[in-house]
Amino acid sequence: MFSKKKPTPQIDKDQLELIENAQNRIKQKKRLYIHFVFFLIGAVFLIVANTVLGIGKDFKILGKEWFLFAILAWLFLFVYHLFNVFVTYKFMGKAWEKKQLDKLVAKQQLRIEKLKKGFVKEETLIAQSEVYNEPKPQKEKTNSPKQELTIIVAAAENDAIGKDNKLIWHLSDDLKRFKNLTNGHHIIMGRKTFESFPKPLPNRTHVVITRQDNYKVPEGVIVVNSLEDAIDASKKDLNPFIIGGGEIYKQALLVANKIELTRVHDSFEADTFFPKIDASIWEETSNVSHSRDEKHDYDFSFLTYIRK
Ligand SMILES: NC(=O)c1ccc[n+]([C@@H]2O[C@H](COP(=O)([O-])OP(=O)(O)OC[C@H]3O[C@@H](n4cnc5c(N)ncnc54)[C@H](OP(=O)(O)O)[C@@H]3O)[C@@H](O)[C@H]2O)c1
Repeated sequence: MFSKKKPTPQIDKDQLELIENAQNRIKQKKRLYIHFVFFLIGAVFLIVANTVLGIGKDFKILGKEWFLFAILAWLFLFVYHLFNVFVTYKFMGKAWEKKQLDKLVAKQQLRIEKLKKGFVKEETLIAQSEVYNEPKPQKEKTNSPKQELTIIVAAAENDAIGKDNKLIWHLSDDLKRFKNLTNGHHIIMGRKTFESFPKPLPNRTHVVITRQDNYKVPEGVIVVNSLEDAIDASKKDLNPFIIGGGEIYKQALLVANKIELTRVHDSFEADTFFPKIDASIWEETSNVSHSRDEKHDYDFSFLTYIRK
């Protein structure tokens, strides 16, 4: 019970590996040396077999004794062996293998870390979505203000909206409605519509769309190169208006939420038209008719459409 245990020598894993490597290396070199000795004896034997014992004396390759080729072939094998022991071992030996393994392990660890992070993110998202699915946060969501993009246009029965970069009619109530609705808002328009104004309209932020790089405008007018940028430039406004013309209406119909249309009940010759309003996409929510009078040459209606 109290007898002393003999201390056993402790060799750690690295030392053991080093010893194994050294033993392997000695074995490799020994095998090479034996190969060399065999090669020397074999070469002498081949020469003696041919020249002294007369084996294959008449057999020649390219006019030379066959043993020369046999020795050369063996020499080639020996050089290959030599190359493996010294050169290949140096570049692709244990140390190289270890380095590659370390690299691979490091890569795998990095991937595992990434996956772990991904899982944590996903878990957080799931947890958050669970929280958001509860009724309270829903309320928070509906409270956040949402931008409403409105197209405002006056179009005839044949969808005509302009000719020679001018409006076709003068309807004072329509202009008043335009003024009231757009007052204080961003008004987005194509370069041609902007040029159809004698000067910018008061109390509205003009956003002009053009493909030109250095398009000059009066101070305060914003110039952009796409409808997307125009909407982005109006993002502070909860209700920016698209005010034309034909090219811009066509593009805006894909993204707008609302159309304020003045339908002029007549047909006109024109060069610019409003696209057909697709009833499967747009729902008419209001329709107010106005008859022709001393101030208005045509019957017209104010219609409102909301995207379904
Ligand atoms: N009845 C109505 O309610 C109403 C309202 C507004 C206008 N209008 C009429 O409509 C007519 C003008 O319409 P319109 O179709 O000829 O011209 P527009 O739509 O006013 O402007 C066209 C110009 O906008 C720019 N543009 C268009 N798409 C663009 C894009 N994706 N990216 C960058 N720039 C873009 C180009 O300018 P650049 O050439 O400079 O590159 C293009 O030449 C006029 O007759 C006007 O009176 C009628």
